[in-house]
Amino acid sequence: MTELEQQLHALRAEAEAAITGCADLPALDQLKTKYLGQHGSVTGILGKLGSLPKEQKPVIGKLANEVKTALAAAITTKREELESQISNLKSPIDTTLPGRRHHLGHQHPLTQIFERTVKIFRRMGFAVEDGPEVEDEWHCFDALNTPADHPARDIQDTLYVDLPADPKYGRYVMPTHTSPVQIRTMLRQQPPIRIIAPGRVFRRDNPDATHSPTFHQIEGLYVDKNVTVADLKGTVEFFFKQLLDPETQVRFRPHFFPYTEPSFEIDLSTPHFRARGKEWIEIAGCGMVDPNVFKAVGYPDDAYTGWAFGFGIERLAMIMWSINDIRLFTENDVRFLEQF
Ligand code: DAH
Repeated sequence: MTELEQQLHALRAEAEAAITGCADLPALDQLKTKYLGQHGSVTGILGKLGSLPKEQKPVIGKLANEVKTALAAAITTKREELESQISNLKSPIDTTLPGRRHHLGHQHPLTQIFERTVKIFRRMGFAVEDGPEVEDEWHCFDALNTPADHPARDIQDTLYVDLPADPKYGRYVMPTHTSPVQIRTMLRQQPPIRIIAPGRVFRRDNPDATHSPTFHQIEGLYVDKNVTVADLKGTVEFFFKQLLDPETQVRFRPHFFPYTEPSFEIDLSTPHFRARGKEWIEIAGCGMVDPNVFKAVGYPDDAYTGWAFGFGIERLAMIMWSINDIRLFTENDVRFLEQF
């Protein structure tokens, strides 16, 4: 073997090792220039062919061309390998990473109670009614048999809206309860009436753990011929059993509301409350619609009887879920909200 042949074999071995171990595309380009470029080692040997003795020319020429072809092929293979590594790195999906967690939102706890209540009453044939967010004194009080000198209208409780009073309906007020929806519904339609009215109410109160200047209530009203206290009690009991627990017990205590006669307060007892040492919890007001209310909406005397009830959603939610601060409902702290 001539010296030149040995040189070519050594060159091939060296170049192939370098190409195999090459780590990136710029380094590969440098190797290509080094061996196969215009001034590269293999190119240099091919350039010297002319000056070789005649018998060596075909042997060295053939070998040099073989080395050139082999190195070009090795470089192409390596380039493809490096390029595919790069495109893997650039891929937006790394299938080896753990998946990203999506946080699913859910309804506010008060909305959950609203919707469950509406669902239960819908099944009993009740429709959902709504009142305006700014009321007037007549709908909020007078028509509900609550005359002007009644303490419920005290400036301490009611937020008055800074607008000129209506000559017929009096001053504008923020509704202190959902009961005016009873009046608006009865003015609009004749019995039989079966409605519930979820709504937002406002009172002059300084916020603390148990007071809020705004909270929510649900009102119920059923008016027809021959509606009795038994209907009221049966409906209320069915509702709370459905909402809370089939073992819920309901108790009526005599009370006073201007717009119902007789009036009651509703106490509940559930296994859940009892387990926490609370026997009876006062939850709602109710009663048989006072004849003066029917008079205010223009229903004929003694034609109908009816019952009504109203209760606060925040209070119910606080009892159901052992929440100790009413302000949590409006602060939108996700750590609180995600518990429900
Ligand atoms: N409006 C009362 C309140 O805000 C609740 C209430 C009591 C509503 C008796 C009624 C009722 O419909 O009959 O405390």
